[in-house]
Amino acid sequence: MGGVRVRVPAKVNLQLSVGAARPDGFHDLANVFLAVGLYDEVTVTPADELRITCEGPDTDQVPLNHTNLAARAALALAERYGREPAVHIHIAKDIPVAGGMAGGSADGAAALLACNTLWNAGASRVELLGLCAELGSDVPFSLVGGAALGTGRGERLTALEIGGTFHWVLATAVRGLSTPAVFREFDRLTAGRDIPEPVVSRTLLDALAKADPDALAAAVSNDLQPAALSLFPELAHTLEAGRAAGALTALISGSGPTAAFLTRDLKGALTVAEALRASKTCRTVRTTTAPAPGAQAMA
Ligand code: C5P
Repeated sequence: MGGVRVRVPAKVNLQLSVGAARPDGFHDLANVFLAVGLYDEVTVTPADELRITCEGPDTDQVPLNHTNLAARAALALAERYGREPAVHIHIAKDIPVAGGMAGGSADGAAALLACNTLWNAGASRVELLGLCAELGSDVPFSLVGGAALGTGRGERLTALEIGGTFHWVLATAVRGLSTPAVFREFDRLTAGRDIPEPVVSRTLLDALAKADPDALAAAVSNDLQPAALSLFPELAHTLEAGRAAGALTALISGSGPTAAFLTRDLKGALTVAEALRASKTCRTVRTTTAPAPGAQAMA
């Protein structure tokens, strides 16, 4: 029997408003996700037992055991639908590892979709989204793609209207950042302060719906950015290099350390990318567009 191959996008966060730590340790968010055209491909084939392999840059940092979200997805679906989780999961990685672009979450969503197809499990979209939410806060968005508002810990999604294409430049860093560590740093930096309830920005939603890059650039925000910069101060140089080259805005994606730059058009993106490469303040530089579709099976 053949395998099932699923392509799944990375994300950037256009708004990441973070509330106070909850009793369960998570934070309530107003999280505006945007899927960008950088993809992992996850192929699932029948095997004697559950096993994971990975190819691409930084694969040495990808866990090849049952802590990998792709393995956890296969195990969760198998348990729910009474299947043997006997599959080989192969991940062709292009999304930066530990980069704040939901690469691990993407692999979880992709493996879930691939196993559902391979096993003919028949899980509905709603059931898949529920399983995604159990796997991690960003996993449901990897399944749906496009643009969406995530509330709760980011897992409760509302699809957002997006009126056209946006051009982005993404600069990866020489090392990763751990999401829990960045949230802990956020808690440390905001200790003793009154933290307001996170609320989505109407201006940002309008800019997205109108596909207006200037208005969007003025509206983006990331409450985790000071925490990411506190743990990784050199990122400020990357952000500055992109701004100086004409990016409409420069921000850290999610918990970082990937830096994301919005430009008006492809020409602007190429100029910013070239300047970032020359600046030697980052490891790799990519240009891409958004929105990208969510996880989908490939022919
Ligand atoms: O949901 P996920 O497993 O991706 O979260 C990883 C970690 O990030 C959590 O254990 C928590 O420390 C932090 N987090 C948080 N609030 C959120 C999402 C994640 O504190 N809304």
